[in-house]
Amino acid sequence: MQNYKEFLEEIIISENQLQKRIAELGAEISRDYKGETLHLICILRGGVLFLADLMRHITVPNSIDFMAVSSYGAGARQSSGKVRITLDLQEDIRNRHVLLVEDIVDSGYTIASVIDFLETRHPKSLKVCTLLNKQERREIPVPIDYCGFVIPDKFVFGYGLDLDELYRNLPFIGTVNTSRYTPPDH
Ligand code: IMP
Ligand code: MG
Repeated sequence: MQNYKEFLEEIIISENQLQKRIAELGAEISRDYKGETLHLICILRGGVLFLADLMRHITVPNSIDFMAVSSYGAGARQSSGKVRITLDLQEDIRNRHVLLVEDIVDSGYTIASVIDFLETRHPKSLKVCTLLNKQERREIPVPIDYCGFVIPDKFVFGYGLDLDELYRNLPFIGTVNTSRYTPPDH
């Protein structure tokens, strides 16, 4: 397996920048939901690191749940526009203040489908918090209530985001030098 240093082009968001911004988002969310109880829904798997750090900065009472969707075919890096729910929530969201926690909004198809799906269950409110926003790539309009960083149209990895399912554990967000990257053959 390659060491990420072999194909890392640039660290576009450092660990310090991530942690500082996530603390700010947590404070903003805590102010907005003051007096309420918040239900955080993390979209697996890319959102887990973000959720874990974000929730430590949320001071209103909160609960968490997880769902998984698949929008990409194996190995492909383009959203197909079709999103399938592969893991449903454990808990009912009716009448609850729901905040969706996502790693990245790219074309927008994933989050748009998840919003449609969750709205049918009648939450009291439904908002979106994404760490990264690839604004230029948007194909379908989606409401983003909280955004960590707007990033350029480059494939990124680290801090939850994978490269062929690897490297999610890195504490920063980096771009890939594709000419130096070799996909794993496992
Ligand atoms: P969308 O449906 O096109 O908005 O795609 C969103 C999903 O695509 C995210 O949840 C990620 O899993 C994946 N994705 C999009 N861009 C990147 C990237 O640069 N690196 C890693 N995953 C990405
Ligand atoms: Mg994802």
